[in-house]
Amino acid sequence: PVLERSESSDTSFITKMKNTSRNVVVFYGSQTGTAEEFATRLAKDASRYGMKGMVADPEECEMDDLAKLAEIENSLAIFCMATYGEGDPTDNAQEFHEYLANGSEAMTGVKFALFVLSHAILTYLPFVLSHAILTYLLFVLSHAILTYIPFVLSHSILTYLPFVLSHAILTYLQFVLTRQYALSPVPEDFPKEKIFTGEVARVGSFANQKPPYDVKNPYLAPITVNKELHKGGDRSCMHIELDISESKIRYETGDHVAIYPINDTDIVEKLGQRLGIDLDTVFSLTNIDEDASKKHPFPCPCSYRTALMHYIDITNPPRTHVLAELAEYTESQTDKEFLQKMTQATEEGKKLYQDWIHNDHRNILAVLEDIPSLHPPVDHICELLPRLQPRFYSISSSPKVYPKSIHVTAVLIQYTTPTNRLSNGVCTSWLASKKPSEDNNSSQLRVPIYVRKSQFRLPFKPSTPIVMIGPGTGLAPFRGFIQERNYFHDEGKPVAETILYFGCRNKGVDFIYEEEMMKYAEKKVLTLHTAFSRDQPNKVYVQHLIDQNHEEIWNVLNNNGHIYICGDAKNMARDVHSMMVKILTTKGDMSTSDAEDYIKKLQSKGRYSADVWS
Ligand code: 2AM
Repeated sequence: PVLERSESSDTSFITKMKNTSRNVVVFYGSQTGTAEEFATRLAKDASRYGMKGMVADPEECEMDDLAKLAEIENSLAIFCMATYGEGDPTDNAQEFHEYLANGSEAMTGVKFALFVLSHAILTYLPFVLSHAILTYLLFVLSHAILTYIPFVLSHSILTYLPFVLSHAILTYLQFVLTRQYALSPVPEDFPKEKIFTGEVARVGSFANQKPPYDVKNPYLAPITVNKELHKGGDRSCMHIELDISESKIRYETGDHVAIYPINDTDIVEKLGQRLGIDLDTVFSLTNIDEDASKKHPFPCPCSYRTALMHYIDITNPPRTHVLAELAEYTESQTDKEFLQKMTQATEEGKKLYQDWIHNDHRNILAVLEDIPSLHPPVDHICELLPRLQPRFYSISSSPKVYPKSIHVTAVLIQYTTPTNRLSNGVCTSWLASKKPSEDNNSSQLRVPIYVRKSQFRLPFKPSTPIVMIGPGTGLAPFRGFIQERNYFHDEGKPVAETILYFGCRNKGVDFIYEEEMMKYAEKKVLTLHTAFSRDQPNKVYVQHLIDQNHEEIWNVLNNNGHIYICGDAKNMARDVHSMMVKILTTKGDMSTSDAEDYIKKLQSKGRYSADVWS
């Protein structure tokens, strides 16, 4: 198959490689920027092995040119592919994935290596090993030309695994101080309207909004409702309504809404003070490699305040390569060695990093505060830290009932770290501060959003029965599902059984949307099973209730029904999966492996779907 692409040479990465004497191309499949960041580091590190690298987005390349890579001497293609959701390819790798799945061209003489990134791999193997990874692995196997060792990088295993190639042994045990971007000051009389103030891609796009709205051009949606769903306790769960009536944005039940948050101003002010800078200084970072497709690490020029608030992730634990580069900015030998030790792939180094950065939840500010001898320049910090990412939420409304608004159900993330610092979830605490009231309905209440299509869909016909398993905020997409089934019911259409397993800690505290759910249950539109884990001495979870209802689940399956699992409970999805296997072995008289195969088949038919996060 040939990808539909214009024939213009602009998109040929081979031409570009030839013209700029490069021999390594690192493709990334990236959803949140992590794989892209790894790809950038890989490309940069090629120089240490006498090679010259560049990163490339498969979405912007003619991937059927891959076979031509053999024309370039000593060349190598590296794939740094992340998966998304249930092991799906990322948006930018979707087309490439289809191309591979349909059988790509022969690639004699092409050398390549593959990295797969997945955060869910350890908790949810069967889903993750689904299509995307398998396709990539099959691609490697069917074109196995060179020694390759595909590795799975897990977010929880932050150690960077070394891999072996024929002409380069990349070890990632040490890092070099190389700047990719140069700081250029911006003259004082630089036109104000050309300075970014938080826009994602086009300057002025916030002040002058134009549809269509998407990842690069989010819509500033007004928050019209922001209310507490918990009835007590010390945790908070927000019900938020985003007004899309003037945006032409459409969504479907089960879609996700992405929200671009901003960082806590308090952290930004403190960073400014600690780094000794004037946050209002306007600056620009420009790629020193003139041929690179990415000219700036984020929209430039902008002020340091804008960069630190809108563009840079300053709250996640800094990765080891950041610490390695920071180590160059201290006069204290002890501090330097301490930082360097954390970046080493030794047992001791890994443990130190795990304890001091991860377990203690130290962000960049905490690192700088706790190592006072460190004096890195702010522009290097801006280059090193990853981009601040939009946050995705399962939409908790149905467009059939709410065509003009998108509902979000989000738990406020807030805790004290072991070093006694208050840690706030970037997006949820920002949302929590946006409460509409009589004297607050201003532009302050608008948040940049776009809708991301999902695979999480109701059956085509309402006459197909469904089982939804969603403890905690896992209820979110199901609220939309139930609204839609109720809508069809009210229209007089035949609606099959709609079964919900919901779980929370206490009935009187965190049973979110209780009144709505009870109303549907009374109307017999919904069959509701509730597990309140902390209302009695022993834990009761959704899967315990499912265990008492084998017959019900089995009947749904036998009537061509669909099963859905959604939630953030750490091991919930895995435990529910085991329960499904148990039901199939008892009711369906299957062996465990038959049951696993049966579930895989259901999955491929879209009859068994999960929307899980950690
Ligand atoms: P717990 O916090 O009392 O352990 C929503 O988070 C609900 O999911 C809570 O009642 C929580 O119970 C429960 N939960 C935690 N772990 C779970 C698991 N492995 N399977 C199912 N439910 C779980």
